[in-house]
Amino acid sequence: MKHEIVEKNVGLLSVLILVVISFGGLAEIVPLFFQKDTTQAVEGLEPLSPLELEGRDIYIREGCVGCHSQMIRPFRAETERYGHYSVAGEFVYDHPFLWGSKRTGPDLARVGGRYSDDWHRAHLYNPRDVVPESIMPAYPWLFENTLDGQSTERKMRALQSMGVPYTDEQIEGAGREVRGEQEITALVAYLQQLGTVIEGTR
Ligand code: HEC
Repeated sequence: MKHEIVEKNVGLLSVLILVVISFGGLAEIVPLFFQKDTTQAVEGLEPLSPLELEGRDIYIREGCVGCHSQMIRPFRAETERYGHYSVAGEFVYDHPFLWGSKRTGPDLARVGGRYSDDWHRAHLYNPRDVVPESIMPAYPWLFENTLDGQSTERKMRALQSMGVPYTDEQIEGAGREVRGEQEITALVAYLQQLGTVIEGTR
């Protein structure tokens, strides 16, 4: 029996198993590279403004992603709490993705517009001032630090080279635009646009 040959030869069996699994993987993964709804921006998606982009970098620097995901799964328990589930086209300009996987705090994928700027500022200055039971750290230094805009244009150029549709006019002078702004202003600007592109999400 030919099958017996395969079963009795561990090396051959391993190779054949690998071949089968690879085909399975390819059949699942490769189509995603070509499907429009996974590779194209959802309608109305704009690249982040220079201020929002700097805010995103502060979000990365402060490790917010360690406690907050930005990815609403398509389950009722999630969509009732957070709004419309996340779709791939919302993230095509994100480099790197900040989906995260840890939810010590709530998901932030659609937090944009849920609270006022003042609420966010108070919350980030000291979360306990607005949510007494909160275990989120305070970020008072964001109110002291200001942006120097030194690398804003270079960051935008790097993103542009990865397919984010910044125009040269948008990049020109972006550093000057953000220079002197408080870090908290940038971070709140970033938070306020999260997940706001899809209509009727809340
Ligand atoms: C140690 C974990 C932790 C870290 C780090 C953390 N958070 Fe939180 N965050 C929480 C928890 C817990 C809550 C829920 C209680 C509250 O609202 O303060 C929360 C709530 C929030 C909320 C309100 C969300 C909602 O829907 O009510 C926002 C906005 C937020 N965090 C932003 C941030 C940002 C921005 C950073 C980084 C500067 C950050 N968090 C870092 C734990 C964390």
